[in-house]
Amino acid sequence: MCGIVGYIGKQDAYPILIKGLHRLEYRGYDSAGVALISADGKLNVYKTKGKVAELERFAADKDTSGTIGIAHTRWATHGEPNDVNAHPHYSQNGRIALIHNGIIENYGVLKQMLIGKGYTFRSETDTEVLVQFIDYLRTTNNCSLFEAVQAALNQVIGAYAIAVLDRDNKDEIIAARKSSPLVIGIGDGEYFLASDATPIAEYVKDVVYLNDGEIAIINRNKPFRIVNLNNIESKIDICKLEMNISELEKGGYPHFMLKEIFEQPRTITDCIRGRINVEGTDVILSGILDHKERFLNARRIICVACGTSWHAGMIGEYLFEDLCGIEVKVEYASEFRYRNPVVHPDDIVLAISQSGETADTLAAVELAKSRGAFIYGICNVVGSSIARATDSGTYIHVGPEIGVASTKAFTGQVTVLVMMAMMIARLKGRIDTERYESVLRGLLAMPEKIKEILSQADRIKEVAAIYTYARNFLYLGRGCNYPTAMEGALKLKEISYIHAEGCPAAEMKHGTIALIDHEMPTVVIATNGSIYEKTISNIQEIKARGGKVIAVVTEGDTIVSHMADHCIWVPETDEYLTPLLSSIPLQLFAYYIAVNKGRDVDQPRNLAKSVTVE
Ligand code: M6R
Repeated sequence: MCGIVGYIGKQDAYPILIKGLHRLEYRGYDSAGVALISADGKLNVYKTKGKVAELERFAADKDTSGTIGIAHTRWATHGEPNDVNAHPHYSQNGRIALIHNGIIENYGVLKQMLIGKGYTFRSETDTEVLVQFIDYLRTTNNCSLFEAVQAALNQVIGAYAIAVLDRDNKDEIIAARKSSPLVIGIGDGEYFLASDATPIAEYVKDVVYLNDGEIAIINRNKPFRIVNLNNIESKIDICKLEMNISELEKGGYPHFMLKEIFEQPRTITDCIRGRINVEGTDVILSGILDHKERFLNARRIICVACGTSWHAGMIGEYLFEDLCGIEVKVEYASEFRYRNPVVHPDDIVLAISQSGETADTLAAVELAKSRGAFIYGICNVVGSSIARATDSGTYIHVGPEIGVASTKAFTGQVTVLVMMAMMIARLKGRIDTERYESVLRGLLAMPEKIKEILSQADRIKEVAAIYTYARNFLYLGRGCNYPTAMEGALKLKEISYIHAEGCPAAEMKHGTIALIDHEMPTVVIATNGSIYEKTISNIQEIKARGGKVIAVVTEGDTIVSHMADHCIWVPETDEYLTPLLSSIPLQLFAYYIAVNKGRDVDQPRNLAKSVTVE
């Protein structure tokens, strides 16, 4: 949801900023821009509608010199994507330039006030209001840029990560955050700033994650400082970055999404490493161990999440209720935060988020916290806002996920949820050794089983080619494969723009079955398990109405494979582990259909990877 990047140091800023924008492009890609101060003190701002490559073409014959600059890739909130609404925005006297990720909610009131003072506006954005407001305060109070930013942010309502330049001071960038992420890389006489660590990782290892309400004063000639909105100096807490640069490249794959699908044998290995012992006889998650009593006495588990992470939470519901005997609620974070939800101090709120920056999930966490609940995070991005807001948690450790469609994060989340359920069930004495060890060994075997499915990619591609014509799809599953079916439908929708609906297989006959005809394919997850026979009946109901069925079945299946039009086989495993296998062919199926349709798989229209606005 907008990516921001900045540089100040000894090197040419422009190539660093452009490379950084490419790394952050997954966050928004409807327009991009850059502002640089040249050695002779000119503030050059270049911005265009379209992707970062467009910006590069546009700026190719322009003056891009300078060792200080800021840049932005946009996901539009206020104002359509066009050249004028693109960031950076600058004050009408051309002195101050600013990039912004977030929303200034009271921009209307501020804009009217500024118009009354003679300011005029070029764009429809809330961001232009902020930069003009800073300029106004700077001029009327005759103060420094930092003081003007601080005064402005004290009057602003909303969310922001910003970086600000003053044409008349080519030695300084002022940056600040509230509810939108910002990380600052500290090098030898140079500083980098960005929405996440991906543009920074190849230059520095020392980073500082700015906290809400903090303003960084980054000056090439003075010590680095962080001061909060109340003018109190903050302690500088330097963290070490651990990021492998090769994880940020496509590594020979045509798309990040395909690379990330194929990474899953490794990412699951990374997720369980050091948590399940090699014999498969025990699982230890320190986040739970450190708060054992909380989990043993939990009244309820409330999962708060969005999108794919919400689907993972739904799988958690089946696991925790059945295996641990704990009542579970799964909430859309966006609804939870605006209800008046009942939250007890002995509830555990599970915040599930790949990015750890989703605004709705973060707000749900804050609400639950204010009501005294214990917050446990399941995040991927280390040091992210949600991870830092929780009381404890388990990282999924699947590495950077760059494709907008979440794949390896989903299987990482489900893996963590299975490990959590196993550990809690064991602590509560609710699971016998045989089942406990069998599930753990099943998890250890998962990477090899996923490899087996991936080796069928060509067959899945062929099946996808047959169904690329379809304009609607139904996805059915039962038990813990009902959320998997919803996840399969979401994957197809977001990258192919084909309408798809996930439905509990048995619920179909209460309405959705009316949609079935020879043009509407149904993807059915019919793997072995306690409700396999019931799912067979649902397949028969579809076939009886002339519908086409693509079934995901367990190897060796002889019943469904005779009924379905096409089958994709997955290896046998424990029922609770089946989502980890059945989700893989659905990811590939969606991917190949989207490719056949010529879609922009990694950056589908209207979407952004990290939704840091409401
Ligand atoms: O980073 P998060 O897991 O909090 O993101 C939640 C959703 O925005 C995300 O899962 C979204 O639905 C994905 N595009 C799905 O592929």
